[in-house]
Amino acid sequence: MVEKKAFVTGHPIAHSRSPKIHGYWLNTYGIDGSYYAIDVAPADFPEFLSSLEANGYQGGNVTIPHKEVAFAQVERRDEAAEMIGAVNMLWLDDGVLWGGNSDWIGFAGNLDEHAPGWERKAPAVVLGAGGASRAVIHALKVRGINDIRIVNRTLARAQELVDRFGAGVSAHGAAGDLLGDAGLLINTTALGMHGDATLAADPACLPAHAIVADIVYVPLKTPLLAAARARNLKTVDGLGMLLHQAVPGFERWFGKRPEVTAELRQMIVADILAK
Ligand code: ATR
Repeated sequence: MVEKKAFVTGHPIAHSRSPKIHGYWLNTYGIDGSYYAIDVAPADFPEFLSSLEANGYQGGNVTIPHKEVAFAQVERRDEAAEMIGAVNMLWLDDGVLWGGNSDWIGFAGNLDEHAPGWERKAPAVVLGAGGASRAVIHALKVRGINDIRIVNRTLARAQELVDRFGAGVSAHGAAGDLLGDAGLLINTTALGMHGDATLAADPACLPAHAIVADIVYVPLKTPLLAAARARNLKTVDGLGMLLHQAVPGFERWFGKRPEVTAELRQMIVADILAK
């Protein structure tokens, strides 16, 4: 049988942990396949997309800066990609190039694993209004949360998401008095990355039953999560979202639904700490 091949493409791409994740699963399940990191400059990306089949790929992941072009150029898109307005995975089906989005599955899968029952914790406060925020809001809506409060520095971007997602979603310029009855607080901005200690919302204002999640995973314990822990709130870090978003792609390309194990997580944690 021909070896199955998939990839992650971005520019740059050397930092990507996806090859480690998929490589771990290929090895664990003894699958004859490969997963490559491919650096493609923006000017070459359309050509890269149109030659996937000729190059023998089943599909792959797409990351910065190719997500928008991928969204525009695929022939078909799954429902989540349409709702979120971004494509992070590609696959070929009978010669047709599909684009999908698994970031929202990563978000929900991570909370299912580490904070079961999270979908009963509405209202939810979401910090940020970019692509990551759209994936989180889609997950919240799919799981039935009907009070989603988007907080963004640029209010107009939060308002755009209200228009996109409709009923049950509201836009705000500051977290202020939104936290007192919130059961979920989710950071989707880059705040907290690389030691930035600015907090866009103070977990001290949340009720005792609230869950605080960050999608940033470098560092694993962001200032927001540290502040939430100090108040004895339940916290979920961002690494699980990265691991869980990889599941649907692997299943599609290699034909086996993989498991996010403690061993896999430990391997990626070690990689983060080594850098
Ligand atoms: P992504 O696709 O990763 O979500 P993005 O679309 O660039 O990235 O969105 C980044 C989000 O982080 C935005 O909500 C942005 O706020 P603005 O819309 O006001 O720009 C937010 N963000 C980034 N840096 C920030 C900062 N220093 N303070 C507050 N919000 C910040």
